[in-house]
Amino acid sequence: MIIPGIASQVLATRLADACGEPLMPVDRRTFPDGDRLVELGQPPGNHAVIVAATTSSDAHLDVLLLQDAAREAGVDRVTTVIPYLGYARQDAAFEPGQPVSVRAMARAIGTATDQVILVDPHERDVVEYFPTPARAISIADRLAPALPNDLEDPLFIAPDAGARQLASTVHAAYGTGTVDNFEKTRRSAHDVEMAPSNASVAGRDVVLVDEVIATGGTMCEAAEILRERDAERIFAACVHPMLAEDAYVRLVRAGVTEVVGSDTLERATSTVSAAPAIADALDLA
Ligand code: R5P
Repeated sequence: MIIPGIASQVLATRLADACGEPLMPVDRRTFPDGDRLVELGQPPGNHAVIVAATTSSDAHLDVLLLQDAAREAGVDRVTTVIPYLGYARQDAAFEPGQPVSVRAMARAIGTATDQVILVDPHERDVVEYFPTPARAISIADRLAPALPNDLEDPLFIAPDAGARQLASTVHAAYGTGTVDNFEKTRRSAHDVEMAPSNASVAGRDVVLVDEVIATGGTMCEAAEILRERDAERIFAACVHPMLAEDAYVRLVRAGVTEVVGSDTLERATSTVSAAPAIADALDLA
């Protein structure tokens, strides 16, 4: 039985289809004091698979309540799929007095479940923070078919060395072109400094690849450099199209032709589905 988290309704539905599993109806209410309640609409069977992107405090709370509801209903096994793990980028106490936020989230999410599956988390090592078996899968290869099939000698660029593996994966899946990476220094949440590489971009189609587009600052900075260097078309491909605030408009204004993302986050640009890869990882057959 697939149980949809509040922020993963579309992906959970697609996953249910991909696995041939029923989709749980969930009733949600908020009490006058602000407390939340979830109620499973039917018995969950033996194995409950909760699919829940933790995009907000409400979504974090929702997954904890769903896990407990499944346990309360007597399931043998709870699997928690976190297509997008919120707080993943606060993976260190960057200043004195700060928490390792993602560790706190992992401990909470990993308590009432038998296993956790993450999709392209910011750092794969985050699995170590879960108190229960956790693994990370990547759907980066699935971004390639969503790109136009007429890219000529495309250049796949990661905005920093950390995302180069993702860019290589998309490049390999696309089947032609080359890979490179820029070097990024973050100055603030909205502001990054980008050191370009020497790759020749003039007249070439370029695909920027990263795991997430949040404010769009990273991709915009890279796109502006590429435009100055006379790149042909610029595509922004990511697994998680968070697109916070006015990120989409900023990207278009920076010269990005198209944003390609997956349904780990439900946005207008989520043209790629993570469902088949998650279904493979679940191996429910
Ligand atoms: C950071 O290391 C990530 O890989 C992304 O580059 C970053 O989080 C994107 O954030 P934004 O869109 O706000 O620049």
